[in-house]
Amino acid sequence: MHIQALRLLNYRNYNDLYVDFHKNLNILIGKNGQGKTNLIEAIYAFAFGKSFRTNKDKELIKFNTDKAFLMGRIKREYYDDLLDIELLISKNNSKGIKINKLSLDKIANLIGKINVVIFSPEDLRLVKEGPKERRTFIDKELSQIDPKYYNYIASYNKILVQRNNLLKFKEFDSNLLNVYDEQLINLGSYIFFRRDEFIKRIAKISKEIHKGLTDSKENLDILYSSVISKKAILDINLIKEEYKKLLKESLDVDIRRQNTKIGPHKDDLKVLINGIDARVYGSQGQQRTSSISIKLSQIELINSIKNEYPIVLLDDIFSELDEKRQSLLINQLKDVQVFVTSAERNHEKIFNKKSCKVFYIEDGKILNSHSI
Ligand SMILES: Nc1ncnc2c1ncn2[C@@H]1O[C@H](COP(=O)(O)OP(=O)(O)O)[C@@H](O)[C@H]1O
Ligand SMILES: [Mg+2]
Repeated sequence: MHIQALRLLNYRNYNDLYVDFHKNLNILIGKNGQGKTNLIEAIYAFAFGKSFRTNKDKELIKFNTDKAFLMGRIKREYYDDLLDIELLISKNNSKGIKINKLSLDKIANLIGKINVVIFSPEDLRLVKEGPKERRTFIDKELSQIDPKYYNYIASYNKILVQRNNLLKFKEFDSNLLNVYDEQLINLGSYIFFRRDEFIKRIAKISKEIHKGLTDSKENLDILYSSVISKKAILDINLIKEEYKKLLKESLDVDIRRQNTKIGPHKDDLKVLINGIDARVYGSQGQQRTSSISIKLSQIELINSIKNEYPIVLLDDIFSELDEKRQSLLINQLKDVQVFVTSAERNHEKIFNKKSCKVFYIEDGKILNSHSI
């Protein structure tokens, strides 16, 4: 799939922008603070209904104006259709979403209609960072291929907060605790189950990609690390049983700590290179390359599920990669629509004079664009 055109009104530092994109490679060049990431953020919002940088929609509205309007025209090759996705964000926190002029009543109905994978400098630290970042990665990526997962994780997090609040009372209603626990077990078991399935698929694809990126010198293993045993994780009913038991066993500790110790909110990914924990022992280069392999596997996975590639956004990561990794990355993304932002002008060298469109961005305007 690819985004053909974009319209922005009073969005971030853009007044009124209309732009047509290249079907494959789009390069956004500009100094810092000119509006490159803002543009990337807008494209991301057509897939997720929100920014990847903030949960506060209001921040997207141009200073001193009341509402922001974003429109993207997306061509989906598999369905052979065009989706005009419109987002209208108002100061009073209301948000309107339309697809081909029809209003959607909730964001969940937008998720999965189009697919976008974004790489930002934080993603290069996926392997190096703490477990929270890796869980966020899993949740975001799984949500866009499984809208049910999106709903489940949102509900799970809400109930987890309620349970933790309840535990803060010296005397609490144990019936209410049982109600929460039952809900956590139902939602959480599905989350465990889907994560395991997802990570196994990602592991398989990223192993192959990683071989390609390292001339077969490195063997990459991605493992799911959770409290549920390997045997139980294959069957949702077994997960439920085990989860229930563990939750019960930790009740005393939970009451003492006023917190929930057991659940998918404690999960992590283990990343091994040639059998060794890359997070602890890997070099920075290895950690980055394995992060790239994992993110790239997501692109392949979406293609295998949706029968077409997602739109790929590479924000500010080129300057963090050496030339060899830059070209390996671009070569992996041959038939994909890619947006690359960069503050440097030496793009022609990087892209081996591939057909592409280059945009020069300054102060919320596209000064000129040309095709190569
Ligand atoms: N709501 C807003 N209204 C007007 N300008 C904004 C808004 N939000 C961010 N900006 C401006 O956008 C610029 C940052 O744009 P960004 O796309 O992040 O830059 P870069 O080109 O470095 O990626 C800053 O100058 C900031 O002041
Ligand atoms: Mg930026």
